[in-house]
Amino acid sequence: MSISENAREDLGADITKVNMVTPDVLDCPYHYYARVRDEAPVHQTPMGFWAVSRYEDIMTMVRDHDTFSSQSMTNGAFSQLPEEAVEISRRDYKRVDTLLTNDPPSHTQFRSLVNKAFLPKRVAQLEESIRQITNDLIDKFADKGRVDLVAEFAIWVPLTVIADALGVDRTDMPKFKKWSDDAVAPLSGMLSAERQIECAQSRYDLHRYMAACVRERETDPRDDLLTDLVQARFDSGPRQGEGLEIDEMLSIVDQVLVAGNETTTNLIAMAMQHLIENPDQMAKVRANRALIPNMVEEALRHEAPVQMLPRFCTKDAVVGGVSVPKGSVIMAMYGSSGRDERKFPNPEKFDVERDNARTHMAFGQGPHFCVGAALARSEARIAFELLFERLDNFAFAPVEEVMHRELSMTLRGLTKLELTFTKIK
Ligand code: HEM
Repeated sequence: MSISENAREDLGADITKVNMVTPDVLDCPYHYYARVRDEAPVHQTPMGFWAVSRYEDIMTMVRDHDTFSSQSMTNGAFSQLPEEAVEISRRDYKRVDTLLTNDPPSHTQFRSLVNKAFLPKRVAQLEESIRQITNDLIDKFADKGRVDLVAEFAIWVPLTVIADALGVDRTDMPKFKKWSDDAVAPLSGMLSAERQIECAQSRYDLHRYMAACVRERETDPRDDLLTDLVQARFDSGPRQGEGLEIDEMLSIVDQVLVAGNETTTNLIAMAMQHLIENPDQMAKVRANRALIPNMVEEALRHEAPVQMLPRFCTKDAVVGGVSVPKGSVIMAMYGSSGRDERKFPNPEKFDVERDNARTHMAFGQGPHFCVGAALARSEARIAFELLFERLDNFAFAPVEEVMHRELSMTLRGLTKLELTFTKIK
């Protein structure tokens, strides 16, 4: 899709006055990002937060954790909850800042423990089980000639992989899916009071369930992520030799669900959408499967599943030559960075052979660089290897609503993608 001049102009004369948290902008924020990058690359938005939209500025910002703290993400979150949700949260395990909402040096300590569970070597060991999970999912719809790729496939690949790693019983998967959805939902910034209460209850139920799994692992260790967390010991710092507290383990489990499931679902679904919309690119990848890993990177560059995340200015700062006062909330617009023409020539084109696709920032940068990047890459690669091996002629199904887009300022993805296909084997 190219960004038309009309769509750019529809946003009005002064781009700094546009409220991007509206369905019109969120449905396709790329016109907005393009104008912001050109006209006001760093500015304060009408929503109060500051927006940083160019690739190089975002890179500089997210690497400087002294000036741009990640603790912004929890600041004030509780005060906006309805009383009933606060009450449920009081009975729940304590919220602790471990990864996403923490800063070095404390973040570094937690991160070094979690890194071990996601090392490329550990992810490589999961290859066979990811292939099995993926093939089992394809078996269920291969003979039907049509599928909602989101509901019947893309949701279940990451969810099943992570449920296995955490030791969730397969019969509890529907509950686990609900908990995972409700862990992510608050990120949209658009929840009703009723949904906020429901999400707090899900978080409570998830914690009770996972705490029981942790107790099991203490007496009956297995070769999985949860056992890694139970057995992990800080190898330096003030807590050297100590293990994680239960609240800390549960906080890490929450973040794996928040950061790992819907993002990977959206990557798989949006990559398929763009391949179908660009038949020449689909033909290239099908003819040369070695292009699948780069196609996955291009999908991440083109449509970042995490469009933006906030930081909190701990001091007066200068970003891209613009002064931003201490105390400001400032957004790293990862979704815009992938379309920055200063970094990626012809950025609107979905090009599976783009040679710098992998330099995208869809997994962030700096100390918070996605801990699950190797796992997400592996899941998406295997998904397309097997889909292409077993099925062909993917097309949008002839139904009224082929796809449905999720509207959130943070996450970008599809909640439905109806396709037809033919079976090879
Ligand atoms: C396509 C899939 C994924 C995308 C686009 C994605 C994106 C991101 C981004 C942008 C960040 C950086 C946050 C920041 O700047 O503050 C991040 C961090 C994180 N991701 Fe992912 N992620 C994906 C998959 C996963 C998976 C599969 C897991 C785990 C199973 C995971 C776990 C995490 C965790 C725990 C963090 C926090 C790291 C830290 O703060 O040190 N992610 N992810």
